[in-house]
Amino acid sequence: MQSFVLRTTSDGVSLGLEDVTSVDDGEVTVELFHSALNFKDYLVGMPHSRVRRRDTLIMGVEAAGIIQSSQSADFSVGDLVILYGGAFGVGRDGGFTQSISVPPALVTALDATTFTSRSAMIWGIAGYTAMASVLALEDHGLTHDGGSVLVTGATGGVGSLAVRLLHQRGYHVTAVTGSPQHEEWLRGIGAQDIIARDDIGDRPGRTLGSERWSGAIDCVGGETLTNIIRTLRYGAAVAASGLVGGNELGGTVYPFITRGVSLLGIDAVDTPPHLRQRVWDEIGRGDVNNEELVERTLSLSEIADGIDAIGRGATRGRWLVDLTAE
Ligand SMILES: NC(=O)c1ccc[n+]([C@@H]2O[C@H](COP(=O)([O-])OP(=O)(O)OC[C@H]3O[C@@H](n4cnc5c(N)ncnc54)[C@H](OP(=O)(O)O)[C@@H]3O)[C@@H](O)[C@H]2O)c1
Repeated sequence: MQSFVLRTTSDGVSLGLEDVTSVDDGEVTVELFHSALNFKDYLVGMPHSRVRRRDTLIMGVEAAGIIQSSQSADFSVGDLVILYGGAFGVGRDGGFTQSISVPPALVTALDATTFTSRSAMIWGIAGYTAMASVLALEDHGLTHDGGSVLVTGATGGVGSLAVRLLHQRGYHVTAVTGSPQHEEWLRGIGAQDIIARDDIGDRPGRTLGSERWSGAIDCVGGETLTNIIRTLRYGAAVAASGLVGGNELGGTVYPFITRGVSLLGIDAVDTPPHLRQRVWDEIGRGDVNNEELVERTLSLSEIADGIDAIGRGATRGRWLVDLTAE
């Protein structure tokens, strides 16, 4: 069976296609058809990764396919499922292969009349995170009359799906990007306003910036998140999920105690089942077709190039992997 394997070596890591089968056990065995690349795959594949928890593993933090056998009462043979979360592709074998056995906690069943394995993977962890962020903002009180919602890392997986979702739900969207060459594409998926990555600071040197955003979805972290917090409108919130720009958080408590703003943490990895189901149900209620977000579909043998492209910031939207392609 063709699998994309990471091995640690004396001088780093080797990544490549091998004829191997997963060594990991699980009550549910799934024939896999599609996977996708995520920033986390890049982190797992780094020589001294702080994310990876095994020296040798089949990579891939998510995949979709059909159940081949199940010892779990929750899943049946033939179910369309998506696999991600826990140690998948991080501390146990992941989705860059063609069949895998996993514990039920890593399995989410999807409605096969709504999704295919391909459309499920266009959403994937990125889409889940984007929708979980939107729901967190709406639960917090985001309304349509409060101004613009900011989305950072807008051409990336989480960012582009967040732009599209917010636009479909009727919000005015401002996209933050470091990729000016993709501005037209961002407008096409729903961004009304676009600002450059370096321009989201406001009144630098002062504790608070002007009140600009009715809400924000941030997957960048670091200085970007600090700047968002100090420029949220009174009572608004930012849903934070990522760290491509840094894992530190600066600033002061003033935005929280004088403007009542909120920082909402978003996790897709260890989500409790009831929340995971709520998010996927909400995704399924909308238009699940997002083909325009797919920039490339790779074969298993092209994954190393894709991971390299993520590291260079050279991807846009979603890069899928067709696990059945030569
Ligand atoms: N909390 C969770 O459970 C969860 C789930 C999914 C993802 N995440 C995290 O969310 C983040 C995004 O993941 P992804 O898969 O969407 O990644 P991605 O597809 O690589 O997108 C990241 C985007 O961020 C922007 N960016 C890249 N480097 C940057 C930098 N140094 N400073 C500022 N912006 C930068 C780029 O967009 P522009 O060029 O448009 O600026 C890039 O396309 C990652 O940190 C990932 O680990 C977390």
